Amino acid sequence: MNWPRDTSARDDARDDALYQQVKLLVRAERRLYASRIELDRQLARIRALNRFALEAGRSVDARWILERASTLLFELFPLDQAVACLAEGDRLCLAAIAAVPGREPQETVRLPDSRYFAPFPQDFFERPLAGPAREVAAQHACVEVPLGWMEALFGGSDRAAPSEALVLALPLLEKDRRPLGLLLARNPEPALISPHDRPPEEDDAGFLELVGSHLAAAVENARLHAELERRVAERTAELDANLRALREAQDQLLQAGKMAAVGTLVAGLSHELSKPLMVIHGYAEALLDEGPESPQAKKGLAAIARQARRCQDLVDALLDFSRKGPPQRDRVHTRDLVGRIAQLARSHPKCREVELRCEVAPEAEVEIFVNRSEIETALLNVVNNALEAAAPGTAVVLSVQGRDQRSEGDELQRGIEFLVADRGPGIPPEIRSRIFDPFFTTKPVGQGVGLGLSLTRQMIENHCGRVEVDSSPGQGTRVSLWVPRGEGPTPVVIE
Ligand SMILES: Nc1ncnc2c1ncn2[C@@H]1O[C@H](COP(=O)(O)OP(=O)(O)OP(=O)(O)O)[C@@H](O)[C@H]1O
Ligand SMILES: [Mg+2]
Repeated sequence: MNWPRDTSARDDARDDALYQQVKLLVRAERRLYASRIELDRQLARIRALNRFALEAGRSVDARWILERASTLLFELFPLDQAVACLAEGDRLCLAAIAAVPGREPQETVRLPDSRYFAPFPQDFFERPLAGPAREVAAQHACVEVPLGWMEALFGGSDRAAPSEALVLALPLLEKDRRPLGLLLARNPEPALISPHDRPPEEDDAGFLELVGSHLAAAVENARLHAELERRVAERTAELDANLRALREAQDQLLQAGKMAAVGTLVAGLSHELSKPLMVIHGYAEALLDEGPESPQAKKGLAAIARQARRCQDLVDALLDFSRKGPPQRDRVHTRDLVGRIAQLARSHPKCREVELRCEVAPEAEVEIFVNRSEIETALLNVVNNALEAAAPGTAVVLSVQGRDQRSEGDELQRGIEFLVADRGPGIPPEIRSRIFDPFFTTKPVGQGVGLGLSLTRQMIENHCGRVEVDSSPGQGTRVSLWVPRGEGPTPVVIE
């Protein structure tokens, strides 16, 4: 059958037109599909960036923010390892490391590690950069050092040279465009990137700049917060120190008031005691001169004369003290001082059941410039307290050692420390603040006056020294008397 000629030509023309229409439609459909995919991608990016900005804005931990920014890049681009470096003064320092699971660093690094510090680069850049490592480094030599850090941390790849790794370099800038740091992300095996994954390209620069500015703002914020916290801690410590100093000054004032009252009392008492002591001493010496026959009496008289002399010295010292003049000073050898204390303390009845051990360290075998009588009395008070507190069968140890201390003016002062340690019941915490109070005693009436420690402190402070007590209930007590060795500054006399 033959078709009419003109009918067939018309049909061909119609088919052609139809075909062209379909082609156009398919093309339009493809474009539409591609735009939809691109739109979805852009939407996903914006959502991810918003999430990051929200989370980073809430954090004050710069390292966490940098790690979180790295994971954002891993989500959006075929990148799997990252390091972030921050400017610290004139140095660039490694500040964070991140990787997708399975691509973690081979080396564990405790940040900051001095191996990962570098001088801050001169050729810092302002726009994000992506491509093979060799090309990125050729454009900005400053990424070379951090790229080397990545290689050291994560190790290389068997399949590709380090220079071939796909690298994204994101500069971080402060508001005034000053360099703050650098985030470097990489994929060491670009050949294995799936065709569905799009490496960062030229038209991603705007989005990446946005990531960089959010990240920089969050890091700056975290740093400011840390600085603020540091300053608050510093101020708090300063305030605490001032408060402590104020409390100490109050205590000293209180103590000074008590001591002033005691001073008046002591002045009167010393005056009254001075004469009878002179009489006791005089008679003892006179009887000794007569040469008593029994050795027992001779020994007893010698002891009376010695102790009366000591009491007289003490009374003289107390009178000196109440006259507020500087005490008389002599050169005294620590060995002689300790020998004398041992001799005097051994007459204490408790010495029958408690051993008194004396140890002088070689560096402490020196002469010190002190008021002999005051230092002896102070030491004897502390040793007597220790003997009275010590448990039977234990030892009281008097040790002397060299110890240098800083004065209030931060001057290094050479000094000697006398340490008296006992294994007694210790000082209960509730009375610790009162043991230096004049007339405070826990001993039965007739056994303690409660003046030992308050006088000791007064005498040691007259020498610009310090008294410290360290006591643990049930374990024992250690009392330290520290005095400067040399002539030192003029002693402070509390009014
Ligand atoms: N080594 C110590 N172990 C336990 N408690 C101690 C020790 N040294 C001092 N104390 C406590 O401190 C108090 C005050 O001591 P301080 O030497 O001033 O007075 P005292 O020994 O009681 O009397 P005294 O005037 O005869 O020395 C003591 O009563 C005691 O409670
Ligand atoms: Mg005492």
